[in-house]
Amino acid sequence: METIQTPYFVIDEAILQKYYDMLTDSLKQNWNNYLVGYSFKTNSLPWLVSFVKKNGAFAEVVSEDEYSLARYLGFENSEIVYNGPYKGEQSFRDVLLAGGYVNLDSQMELSWLTKLASEYPDRNFEVGVRANFNLEKMCPGETTMGEVSGRFGFCYETGKFAQALSILQKISNVSVVGLHLHSSSKSRSVNIFRSIAKMACQLKEEFNLKLSYVDLGGGYCGGMEGRPEYPDYFPAVAEELSKCFSPAETKIIVEPGISLISKCTTFVTSIFDTRDIKGTRYVMTDGSRFNIDATMIKSSHLFHLEKSEEYTAKRPVMNEQIISGFTCMECDRLFTYENQPELVPGDRIIYENVGGYTMSLNPLFIQYFPAVYVRKDGKLIQVRRKWTPADYVQGSDWKE
Ligand SMILES: Cc1ncc(COP(=O)(O)O)c(C=O)c1O
Repeated sequence: METIQTPYFVIDEAILQKYYDMLTDSLKQNWNNYLVGYSFKTNSLPWLVSFVKKNGAFAEVVSEDEYSLARYLGFENSEIVYNGPYKGEQSFRDVLLAGGYVNLDSQMELSWLTKLASEYPDRNFEVGVRANFNLEKMCPGETTMGEVSGRFGFCYETGKFAQALSILQKISNVSVVGLHLHSSSKSRSVNIFRSIAKMACQLKEEFNLKLSYVDLGGGYCGGMEGRPEYPDYFPAVAEELSKCFSPAETKIIVEPGISLISKCTTFVTSIFDTRDIKGTRYVMTDGSRFNIDATMIKSSHLFHLEKSEEYTAKRPVMNEQIISGFTCMECDRLFTYENQPELVPGDRIIYENVGGYTMSLNPLFIQYFPAVYVRKDGKLIQVRRKWTPADYVQGSDWKE
Protein backbone atom coordinates (compact mmCIF):
# COMPACT_ATOMS: atom_id res chain seq x y z
CA MET A 1 0.00 0.00 0.00
CA GLU A 2 1.32 3.47 -0.91
CA THR A 3 1.84 5.62 2.19
CA ILE A 4 0.78 8.95 0.69
CA GLN A 5 -2.00 10.82 2.50
CA THR A 6 -5.35 10.15 0.81
CA PRO A 7 -7.42 11.24 -1.03
CA TYR A 8 -5.50 11.70 -4.27
CA PHE A 9 -5.76 11.07 -7.99
CA VAL A 10 -3.12 9.09 -9.86
CA ILE A 11 -2.54 9.32 -13.60
CA ASP A 12 -0.50 6.48 -15.07
CA GLU A 13 1.63 8.05 -17.76
CA ALA A 14 2.38 4.82 -19.64
CA ILE A 15 -1.34 4.04 -19.97
CA LEU A 16 -2.10 7.59 -21.08
CA GLN A 17 0.64 7.36 -23.71
CA LYS A 18 -0.72 4.01 -24.85
CA TYR A 19 -4.16 5.53 -25.43
CA TYR A 20 -2.80 8.63 -27.15
CA ASP A 21 -0.74 6.43 -29.49
CA MET A 22 -3.70 4.10 -30.08
CA LEU A 23 -5.74 7.12 -31.17
CA THR A 24 -3.15 8.59 -33.52
CA ASP A 25 -2.07 5.20 -34.93
CA SER A 26 -5.65 4.38 -35.73
CA LEU A 27 -6.19 7.78 -37.38
CA LYS A 28 -2.94 7.41 -39.35
CA GLN A 29 -3.96 3.99 -40.62
CA ASN A 30 -7.45 5.02 -41.66
CA TRP A 31 -7.31 8.73 -42.54
CA ASN A 32 -3.82 10.07 -42.58
CA ASN A 33 -4.82 13.71 -42.33
CA TYR A 34 -6.02 14.46 -38.84
CA LEU A 35 -5.80 16.80 -35.91
CA VAL A 36 -6.35 16.04 -32.23
CA GLY A 37 -8.08 18.87 -30.36
CA TYR A 38 -7.88 17.83 -26.73
CA SER A 39 -11.13 18.58 -24.88
CA PHE A 40 -10.16 20.99 -22.08
CA LYS A 41 -13.52 20.72 -20.34
CA THR A 42 -13.03 17.01 -19.75
CA ASN A 43 -9.91 17.55 -17.67
CA SER A 44 -7.75 20.66 -17.86
CA LEU A 45 -5.15 19.65 -15.27
CA PRO A 46 -2.04 21.57 -16.41
CA TRP A 47 0.18 18.47 -16.43
CA LEU A 48 -2.30 16.62 -18.62
CA VAL A 49 -2.75 19.51 -21.00
CA SER A 50 1.00 19.84 -21.33
CA PHE A 51 1.30 16.10 -21.95
CA VAL A 52 -1.15 16.15 -24.87
CA LYS A 53 0.45 19.34 -26.21
CA LYS A 54 3.85 17.62 -26.28
CA ASN A 55 2.18 14.83 -28.23
CA GLY A 56 0.95 17.28 -30.86
CA ALA A 57 -2.62 18.01 -29.73
CA PHE A 58 -4.30 21.40 -30.14
CA ALA A 59 -6.56 22.80 -27.40
CA GLU A 60 -10.31 22.34 -27.86
CA VAL A 61 -11.88 25.06 -25.73
CA VAL A 62 -15.46 26.24 -25.17
CA SER A 63 -15.21 29.47 -23.19
CA GLU A 64 -13.07 32.56 -22.81
CA ASP A 65 -11.64 31.14 -19.57
CA GLU A 66 -10.69 27.84 -21.20
CA TYR A 67 -9.20 29.79 -24.09
CA SER A 68 -7.16 31.93 -21.66
CA LEU A 69 -5.98 28.81 -19.85
CA ALA A 70 -4.86 27.29 -23.15
CA ARG A 71 -2.91 30.46 -23.97
CA TYR A 72 -1.46 30.51 -20.43
CA LEU A 73 -0.29 26.93 -20.88
CA GLY A 74 1.49 27.77 -24.12
CA PHE A 75 -0.94 27.14 -26.98
CA GLU A 76 -0.72 29.68 -29.82
CA ASN A 77 -3.95 31.17 -31.19
CA SER A 78 -3.38 29.03 -34.27
CA GLU A 79 -3.40 25.92 -32.04
CA ILE A 80 -6.92 26.48 -30.72
CA VAL A 81 -10.11 24.69 -31.76
CA TYR A 82 -12.79 27.09 -30.51
CA ASN A 83 -16.24 25.57 -30.00
CA GLY A 84 -19.43 26.00 -28.05
CA PRO A 85 -22.09 28.65 -27.48
CA TYR A 86 -20.14 30.77 -24.98
CA LYS A 87 -17.10 32.14 -26.76
CA GLY A 88 -15.70 35.59 -26.02
CA GLU A 89 -15.65 38.08 -28.90
CA GLN A 90 -12.03 39.14 -28.44
CA SER A 91 -10.72 35.57 -28.31
CA PHE A 92 -12.99 34.64 -31.25
CA ARG A 93 -11.29 37.40 -33.27
CA ASP A 94 -7.78 36.51 -32.08
CA VAL A 95 -8.17 32.84 -33.03
CA LEU A 96 -9.62 33.66 -36.45
CA LEU A 97 -6.96 36.26 -37.21
CA ALA A 98 -4.25 33.73 -36.33
CA GLY A 99 -5.75 30.97 -38.50
CA GLY A 100 -6.99 28.78 -35.64
CA TYR A 101 -10.17 26.74 -35.90
CA VAL A 102 -13.46 28.40 -35.00
CA ASN A 103 -16.70 26.45 -35.27
CA LEU A 104 -19.59 28.90 -35.36
CA ASP A 105 -22.43 28.09 -33.02
CA SER A 106 -24.86 31.06 -33.02
CA GLN A 107 -26.38 34.09 -34.74
CA MET A 108 -24.31 36.29 -32.45
CA GLU A 109 -21.12 34.74 -33.80
CA LEU A 110 -22.33 35.38 -37.36
CA SER A 111 -22.55 39.08 -36.49
CA TRP A 112 -19.11 39.05 -34.86
CA LEU A 113 -17.69 37.48 -37.99
CA THR A 114 -19.48 39.92 -40.31
CA LYS A 115 -17.97 42.79 -38.34
CA LEU A 116 -14.48 41.26 -38.29
CA ALA A 117 -14.56 40.54 -42.02
CA SER A 118 -15.56 44.13 -42.79
CA GLU A 119 -12.74 45.46 -40.62
CA TYR A 120 -10.17 43.32 -42.46
CA PRO A 121 -11.28 43.41 -46.12
CA ASP A 122 -7.87 42.15 -47.30
CA ARG A 123 -7.95 39.02 -45.17
CA ASN A 124 -9.85 35.81 -45.90
CA PHE A 125 -11.47 34.15 -42.90
CA GLU A 126 -11.94 30.38 -42.88
CA VAL A 127 -14.55 29.04 -40.47
CA GLY A 128 -16.41 25.89 -39.53
CA VAL A 129 -20.12 25.66 -38.75
CA ARG A 130 -21.60 23.45 -36.11
CA ALA A 131 -24.52 21.47 -37.48
CA ASN A 132 -27.33 20.46 -35.17
CA PHE A 133 -29.06 17.45 -36.71
CA ASN A 134 -31.32 14.57 -35.82
CA LEU A 135 -28.79 11.91 -34.89
CA GLU A 136 -31.46 10.13 -32.85
CA LYS A 137 -33.33 9.31 -36.06
CA MET A 138 -30.18 7.69 -37.44
CA CYS A 139 -29.34 5.88 -34.18
CA PRO A 140 -32.60 5.31 -32.26
CA GLY A 141 -32.21 5.18 -28.50
CA GLU A 142 -28.49 5.99 -28.58
CA THR A 143 -28.24 9.76 -28.23
CA THR A 144 -28.20 11.87 -25.07
CA MET A 145 -30.81 14.32 -26.31
CA GLY A 146 -33.17 11.60 -27.55
CA GLU A 147 -36.30 12.80 -29.34
CA VAL A 148 -35.95 16.38 -28.11
CA SER A 149 -33.41 18.53 -29.91
CA GLY A 150 -29.86 19.23 -28.80
CA ARG A 151 -29.20 22.90 -28.19
CA PHE A 152 -25.89 23.47 -29.96
CA GLY A 153 -25.20 24.78 -33.44
CA PHE A 154 -27.46 25.54 -36.38
CA CYS A 155 -30.36 23.17 -36.90
CA TYR A 156 -30.35 21.36 -40.22
CA GLU A 157 -33.95 20.18 -40.12
CA THR A 158 -35.45 23.63 -39.44
CA GLY A 159 -33.40 25.34 -42.17
CA LYS A 160 -31.24 27.36 -39.77
CA PHE A 161 -28.09 25.63 -41.00
CA ALA A 162 -28.93 26.53 -44.62
CA GLN A 163 -29.70 30.08 -43.52
CA ALA A 164 -26.34 30.42 -41.73
CA LEU A 165 -24.52 29.16 -44.83
CA SER A 166 -26.32 31.62 -47.03
CA ILE A 167 -25.39 34.51 -44.70
CA LEU A 168 -21.76 33.39 -44.74
CA GLN A 169 -21.68 32.91 -48.49
CA LYS A 170 -22.63 36.54 -48.94
CA ILE A 171 -19.50 37.74 -47.12
CA SER A 172 -16.86 37.86 -49.83
CA ASN A 173 -13.85 37.33 -47.58
CA VAL A 174 -15.31 34.45 -45.51
CA SER A 175 -15.14 30.78 -46.54
CA VAL A 176 -16.89 27.91 -44.84
CA VAL A 177 -14.21 25.23 -44.78
CA GLY A 178 -15.32 23.03 -41.90
CA LEU A 179 -18.21 21.19 -40.32
CA HIS A 180 -18.48 20.50 -36.62
CA LEU A 181 -20.71 17.55 -35.89
CA HIS A 182 -20.10 16.68 -32.24
CA SER A 183 -23.09 14.95 -30.70
CA SER A 184 -23.21 13.41 -27.25
CA SER A 185 -24.45 9.86 -27.07
CA LYS A 186 -25.27 7.37 -24.35
CA SER A 187 -23.94 4.48 -26.38
CA ARG A 188 -20.66 5.98 -27.70
CA SER A 189 -21.05 3.32 -30.39
CA VAL A 190 -19.23 2.94 -33.69
CA ASN A 191 -22.64 3.44 -35.30
CA ILE A 192 -22.83 6.96 -33.86
CA PHE A 193 -19.57 7.94 -35.54
CA ARG A 194 -20.50 6.18 -38.79
CA SER A 195 -23.72 8.24 -38.79
CA ILE A 196 -21.85 11.47 -38.06
CA ALA A 197 -19.59 10.72 -41.05
CA LYS A 198 -22.66 10.01 -43.19
CA MET A 199 -24.12 13.36 -42.16
CA ALA A 200 -20.88 15.10 -43.15
CA CYS A 201 -21.28 13.61 -46.64
CA GLN A 202 -24.93 14.55 -46.82
CA LEU A 203 -24.25 18.19 -45.88
CA LYS A 204 -21.30 18.44 -48.24
CA GLU A 205 -23.37 17.15 -51.18
CA GLU A 206 -26.54 19.07 -50.39
CA PHE A 207 -24.80 22.42 -49.90
CA ASN A 208 -21.99 21.85 -52.34
CA LEU A 209 -19.33 22.53 -49.70
CA LYS A 210 -15.57 22.42 -50.21
CA LEU A 211 -14.31 21.34 -46.83
CA SER A 212 -10.78 21.31 -45.54
CA TYR A 213 -11.96 19.68 -42.31
CA VAL A 214 -14.69 17.58 -40.77
CA ASP A 215 -14.70 17.84 -36.98
CA LEU A 216 -16.21 14.66 -35.52
CA GLY A 217 -16.06 16.01 -31.94
CA GLY A 218 -15.58 13.77 -28.91
CA GLY A 219 -17.63 11.11 -27.19
CA TYR A 220 -15.62 7.96 -27.92
CA CYS A 221 -15.26 5.03 -25.55
CA GLY A 222 -11.87 4.09 -24.22
CA GLY A 223 -10.70 1.56 -21.68
CA MET A 224 -14.11 0.03 -20.99
CA GLU A 225 -14.28 -3.76 -21.12
CA GLY A 226 -16.45 -4.98 -23.99
CA ARG A 227 -16.89 -1.50 -25.47
CA PRO A 228 -15.33 0.02 -28.60
CA GLU A 229 -11.80 1.41 -28.66
CA TYR A 230 -10.25 3.94 -31.08
CA PRO A 231 -9.28 1.28 -33.66
CA ASP A 232 -12.96 0.31 -33.94
CA TYR A 233 -14.19 3.80 -34.84
CA PHE A 234 -11.94 5.08 -37.57
CA PRO A 235 -12.29 2.28 -40.16
CA ALA A 236 -16.08 2.91 -40.09
CA VAL A 237 -15.62 6.70 -40.24
CA ALA A 238 -13.13 6.40 -43.11
CA GLU A 239 -15.40 4.02 -45.01
CA GLU A 240 -18.24 6.58 -44.93
CA LEU A 241 -16.15 9.70 -45.43
CA SER A 242 -14.28 8.27 -48.39
CA LYS A 243 -17.57 8.24 -50.34
CA CYS A 244 -17.32 12.02 -50.72
CA PHE A 245 -14.04 13.21 -49.19
CA SER A 246 -10.39 12.33 -49.52
CA PRO A 247 -7.62 12.64 -46.94
CA ALA A 248 -5.66 14.69 -49.48
CA GLU A 249 -8.21 17.50 -49.23
CA THR A 250 -10.06 17.05 -45.97
CA LYS A 251 -8.75 16.62 -42.47
CA ILE A 252 -10.55 14.84 -39.66
CA ILE A 253 -10.55 16.69 -36.34
CA VAL A 254 -11.19 14.60 -33.26
CA GLU A 255 -11.82 16.04 -29.80
CA PRO A 256 -11.14 13.22 -27.37
CA GLY A 257 -11.73 13.70 -23.69
CA ILE A 258 -12.93 10.86 -21.53
CA SER A 259 -11.73 8.14 -23.91
CA LEU A 260 -8.14 9.32 -23.58
CA ILE A 261 -7.86 9.82 -19.87
CA SER A 262 -10.30 7.49 -18.15
CA LYS A 263 -8.34 4.30 -18.18
CA CYS A 264 -5.14 5.89 -16.87
CA THR A 265 -6.70 7.65 -13.88
CA THR A 266 -7.58 6.35 -10.42
CA PHE A 267 -8.79 8.04 -7.24
CA VAL A 268 -7.41 6.69 -3.98
CA THR A 269 -9.52 7.06 -0.84
CA SER A 270 -9.36 5.72 2.73
CA ILE A 271 -12.00 4.65 5.18
CA PHE A 272 -11.77 6.76 8.34
CA ASP A 273 -14.83 5.59 10.27
CA THR A 274 -17.74 3.17 10.24
CA ARG A 275 -21.03 3.62 12.03
CA ASP A 276 -24.22 1.60 12.50
CA ILE A 277 -27.50 3.50 12.45
CA LYS A 278 -30.81 1.64 12.68
CA GLY A 279 -29.24 -1.51 11.34
CA THR A 280 -27.44 0.19 8.45
CA ARG A 281 -23.64 0.14 8.24
CA TYR A 282 -22.20 3.39 6.91
CA VAL A 283 -18.60 3.37 5.77
CA MET A 284 -17.17 6.89 5.86
CA THR A 285 -14.39 7.69 3.40
CA ASP A 286 -12.15 10.69 2.80
CA GLY A 287 -13.15 10.78 -0.88
CA SER A 288 -16.50 12.18 -1.87
CA ARG A 289 -18.99 11.53 -4.62
CA PHE A 290 -18.32 15.16 -5.56
CA ASN A 291 -14.73 14.22 -6.42
CA ILE A 292 -15.66 11.61 -9.02
CA ASP A 293 -19.34 12.03 -9.86
CA ALA A 294 -20.11 15.71 -9.32
CA THR A 295 -23.11 15.58 -11.67
CA MET A 296 -24.52 12.65 -9.68
CA ILE A 297 -25.26 10.50 -12.70
CA LYS A 298 -23.24 7.38 -12.03
CA SER A 299 -25.09 4.33 -10.84
CA SER A 300 -21.99 2.20 -10.30
CA HIS A 301 -18.26 2.57 -9.93
CA LEU A 302 -15.31 0.45 -10.95
CA PHE A 303 -13.04 0.03 -7.94
CA HIS A 304 -10.66 -2.25 -6.13
CA LEU A 305 -9.71 -2.46 -2.48
CA GLU A 306 -6.45 -2.42 -0.57
CA LYS A 307 -7.16 -3.83 2.85
CA SER A 308 -5.39 -2.52 5.92
CA GLU A 309 -2.55 -4.81 6.91
CA GLU A 310 -2.89 -3.62 10.51
CA TYR A 311 -6.31 -5.23 10.86
CA THR A 312 -5.65 -8.91 11.26
CA ALA A 313 -8.93 -10.12 12.82
CA LYS A 314 -11.29 -12.25 10.72
CA ARG A 315 -13.76 -10.05 8.86
CA PRO A 316 -17.43 -11.10 9.05
CA VAL A 317 -19.47 -10.96 5.85
CA MET A 318 -21.98 -8.10 5.98
CA ASN A 319 -25.23 -7.86 4.03
CA GLU A 320 -24.88 -4.22 3.18
CA GLN A 321 -22.26 -1.52 3.67
CA ILE A 322 -23.04 1.94 2.33
CA ILE A 323 -19.87 3.60 1.11
CA SER A 324 -20.17 7.32 1.78
CA GLY A 325 -18.16 10.47 1.31
CA PHE A 326 -16.90 12.89 3.95
CA THR A 327 -19.28 15.75 3.18
CA CYS A 328 -22.39 16.56 5.16
CA MET A 329 -24.70 16.01 2.19
CA GLU A 330 -26.87 12.91 2.58
CA CYS A 331 -26.59 12.29 -1.17
CA ASP A 332 -22.85 11.86 -0.79
CA ARG A 333 -23.07 8.07 -1.01
CA LEU A 334 -20.98 6.29 -3.62
CA PHE A 335 -22.18 2.69 -3.69
CA THR A 336 -23.55 -0.17 -1.62
CA TYR A 337 -21.16 -3.01 -0.98
CA GLU A 338 -23.29 -6.16 -0.67
CA ASN A 339 -22.53 -9.53 0.94
CA GLN A 340 -18.86 -8.75 1.37
CA PRO A 341 -16.37 -8.89 4.24
CA GLU A 342 -16.54 -5.97 6.63
CA LEU A 343 -14.57 -2.88 5.66
CA VAL A 344 -12.67 -1.11 8.44
CA PRO A 345 -10.83 2.19 8.98
CA GLY A 346 -7.49 2.11 7.19
CA ASP A 347 -8.80 0.13 4.20
CA ARG A 348 -8.48 1.91 0.89
CA ILE A 349 -11.00 2.10 -1.94
CA ILE A 350 -9.40 2.89 -5.27
CA TYR A 351 -11.82 4.04 -7.95
CA GLU A 352 -10.89 3.32 -11.55
CA ASN A 353 -11.61 5.10 -14.85
CA VAL A 354 -12.07 8.48 -13.20
CA GLY A 355 -10.10 10.82 -15.47
CA GLY A 356 -13.00 12.60 -17.19
CA TYR A 357 -15.35 15.23 -15.73
CA THR A 358 -13.94 14.71 -12.25
CA MET A 359 -11.02 17.07 -11.56
CA SER A 360 -12.62 19.75 -13.77
CA LEU A 361 -16.02 19.44 -12.07
CA ASN A 362 -14.78 18.98 -8.51
CA PRO A 363 -16.29 21.65 -6.24
CA LEU A 364 -14.39 23.40 -3.45
CA PHE A 365 -16.92 22.04 -1.01
CA ILE A 366 -15.84 21.35 2.59
CA GLN A 367 -12.43 20.07 1.50
CA TYR A 368 -10.24 21.72 -1.11
CA PHE A 369 -8.93 20.08 -4.28
CA PRO A 370 -7.08 16.80 -3.61
CA ALA A 371 -3.53 16.20 -4.79
CA VAL A 372 -2.76 14.63 -8.15
CA TYR A 373 0.20 12.33 -8.80
CA VAL A 374 1.59 10.89 -12.00
CA ARG A 375 2.90 7.34 -11.99
CA LYS A 376 6.04 7.25 -14.10
CA ASP A 377 8.65 4.49 -14.17
CA GLY A 378 7.15 2.98 -11.02
CA LYS A 379 7.38 6.23 -9.00
CA LEU A 380 4.68 8.71 -8.02
CA ILE A 381 5.43 12.33 -8.88
CA GLN A 382 3.18 15.06 -7.50
CA VAL A 383 1.81 17.28 -10.28
CA ARG A 384 -0.72 19.16 -8.16
CA ARG A 385 -0.46 19.50 -4.41
CA LYS A 386 -3.55 19.46 -2.27
CA TRP A 387 -5.11 22.93 -2.21
CA THR A 388 -4.79 24.91 0.98
CA PRO A 389 -6.74 27.89 2.39
CA ALA A 390 -4.10 30.13 0.75
CA ASP A 391 -5.13 28.76 -2.65
CA TYR A 392 -8.79 29.13 -1.77
CA VAL A 393 -8.56 32.83 -0.82
CA GLN A 394 -6.71 33.87 -3.99
CA GLY A 395 -8.40 36.89 -5.49
CA SER A 396 -10.39 37.65 -2.33
CA ASP A 397 -10.23 40.87 -0.34
CA TRP A 398 -11.10 40.82 3.33
CA LYS A 399 -8.44 42.92 5.07
CA GLU A 400 -9.05 46.69 5.36
C1 LIG B 1 -17.76 19.80 -28.52
C2 LIG B 1 -17.22 18.70 -27.65
N1 LIG B 1 -16.04 18.13 -27.97
C3 LIG B 1 -15.50 17.14 -27.20
C4 LIG B 1 -16.14 16.69 -26.07
C5 LIG B 1 -15.48 15.62 -25.25
O1 LIG B 1 -16.28 14.52 -25.09
P1 LIG B 1 -15.79 13.23 -24.27
O2 LIG B 1 -15.12 13.68 -23.04
O3 LIG B 1 -17.05 12.51 -24.02
O4 LIG B 1 -14.88 12.51 -25.21
C6 LIG B 1 -17.38 17.26 -25.70
C7 LIG B 1 -18.10 16.81 -24.51
O5 LIG B 1 -19.26 16.99 -24.33
C8 LIG B 1 -17.92 18.30 -26.51
O6 LIG B 1 -19.08 18.90 -26.18
